Amino acid sequence: MTAAGGQAWETLRHDVLVIGAGGAGLRAAVAVSEVGLSVGVVSKSLLGKAHTVMAEGGVAAALGHLDAEDSPDVHFRDTMKSGHFVNSARMAELLTAEAPERVWELERWGAVFDRTPAGQILQRAFGAHSYRRLCHVGDHTGKELLRTLQNRVTQLGVAFYPEVIVTRLFRDDSGMAGALAYRRVDGRFVLLRAPAIVLATGGWGRVYAVTSNSWESTGDGTALAFAAGADLMDMEMVQFHPTGMVWPPGVRGLLVTEGVRGEGGILLNAQGRRFMADYDPKRMELSSRDVVARAIYQEVQAGRGTPHGGARLDITARGAAFISRKLPSMRAQFLALADVDITREAMEVAPTCHYMMGGVRVDPDTCATRVPGLFAAGEVAAGLHGANRLGGNSLADLLVFGKRAGDAAARFAAASVHLPVVAASEIEEEVARVLAPLRQPLGPSPYGLHSALQEVMTRCGGIVRSGPGLQNGLQQVLEMQERAARLAAPGGTLYNPGWNLALELDAMLLLGEAILRSALERTESRGAHYRTDFPEEDAAWGKQNVVITRDRGGSPSLRTVPVAAVTPQQQRVLAPLTQDVTGRAPS
Ligand code: FUM
Repeated sequence: MTAAGGQAWETLRHDVLVIGAGGAGLRAAVAVSEVGLSVGVVSKSLLGKAHTVMAEGGVAAALGHLDAEDSPDVHFRDTMKSGHFVNSARMAELLTAEAPERVWELERWGAVFDRTPAGQILQRAFGAHSYRRLCHVGDHTGKELLRTLQNRVTQLGVAFYPEVIVTRLFRDDSGMAGALAYRRVDGRFVLLRAPAIVLATGGWGRVYAVTSNSWESTGDGTALAFAAGADLMDMEMVQFHPTGMVWPPGVRGLLVTEGVRGEGGILLNAQGRRFMADYDPKRMELSSRDVVARAIYQEVQAGRGTPHGGARLDITARGAAFISRKLPSMRAQFLALADVDITREAMEVAPTCHYMMGGVRVDPDTCATRVPGLFAAGEVAAGLHGANRLGGNSLADLLVFGKRAGDAAARFAAASVHLPVVAASEIEEEVARVLAPLRQPLGPSPYGLHSALQEVMTRCGGIVRSGPGLQNGLQQVLEMQERAARLAAPGGTLYNPGWNLALELDAMLLLGEAILRSALERTESRGAHYRTDFPEEDAAWGKQNVVITRDRGGSPSLRTVPVAAVTPQQQRVLAPLTQDVTGRAPS
């Protein structure tokens, strides 16, 4: 224990520090541990409590068990097309090539996937996938994936620090030096020293009022990376999952898996019309998420919504036995929370903020950020999904890139000859910053500010956007940032949710600003980013990503960078989507 300026902190050391204990963090920790290095995983929550569990319907991997025509190449094409070609072709190539092996590996580690009658892993249909591709465990695949990885890290003896919240990353001359955190359970500070850090902190869906994200998803890791010097990219690309619960109000936004539509569920408006015929008659309910979410939104806006402002999702035609076998969690969820038996009645659903395609800009192969020793994997990282993520690609993402980030961080740590150093003065300064809301006698409430942010982001930066709306939202968020400097959260450091939220608001306000600024910059509509003042895709924008760098004063500075070039081999695979085999696939 070290003490300075009246504050004490404990120091822990690892070769690699992983921040975040969802699928990407745990898979990275496995990779580090398997090469014999010491790895510590910190999580702001408890083991098993991660947004990974909200990927319910399956993990996308082209095993071809049900449709022999499927292959990694077709999966690659689907991923690029769904991302509207602003995604990293290299990341999509790695994902689709390596996902099958990552699934087999999970099975070797004990994951129990549903089977075909012949005993192979069963695969289901999902929106905008050309074939039945989603390997699944009923409708709780993410939970099974997490359970399997938890067992694996436990067997390997990985050090786990639950309910530890990181507030700052430290650098030294050679790269990362460590992180400062506090423990919710006793309010004490911890200095975690490590030459390599993997961020696997997930997304920031809590900036929106209706979301499938739990309280943890406030984007702390993204803000930490930005403060440390990493770039952000594609921040305007926010995924609204078409189907969240609508009623009762306490569970509004809770996910209703796409597996319901994959297993034959249909969407109806209040007039009983199967309205997807008006939006995507070919793919209907299995259109891409951006299209289905906007379709439901438009039906509600046009006055054809259900009493609580949604659509009806009906799978009753499949019969009670089928539904109970394929969708047991959905059946239990609606019975327990809404008193609705989905084997007899339709569900009421509406879009819910589910996933961030944007995030920390990384090297496609190693997940390295611009900051030496800092890596990012899973939802916190940008690039793979472009303008719209395919369902099931998030679980594949966290397995493939969690491993890649862990491998690269382990290599970096093993090659590192320096003992990371953090100056006591830097720690004291950070401790003082973190404790400030507790010492503020009067000031705005973190809860009030959070609700205001959620309202503004939903109204101005939601499913449908416009220039004036985005501008207005940005102005309000900038004003909120000024108020945030005076937040008061009375009480102590021990399990103080108001204080936690005050600290999380720094990240959420920064990321809200980044979303709005990037959305203003992209003067077109593409995938999940839809602007009424620019309703069409613009081919020139199809060649650009919006990147945010921290300027000298610490403020976000925007620029556009060309989307990474497609290799001739990738171009050959993409050729069926386009006549133009010489350049990048047109959007
Ligand atoms: O609908 C779902 O089960 C979600 C899957 C995903 O986001 O990948």
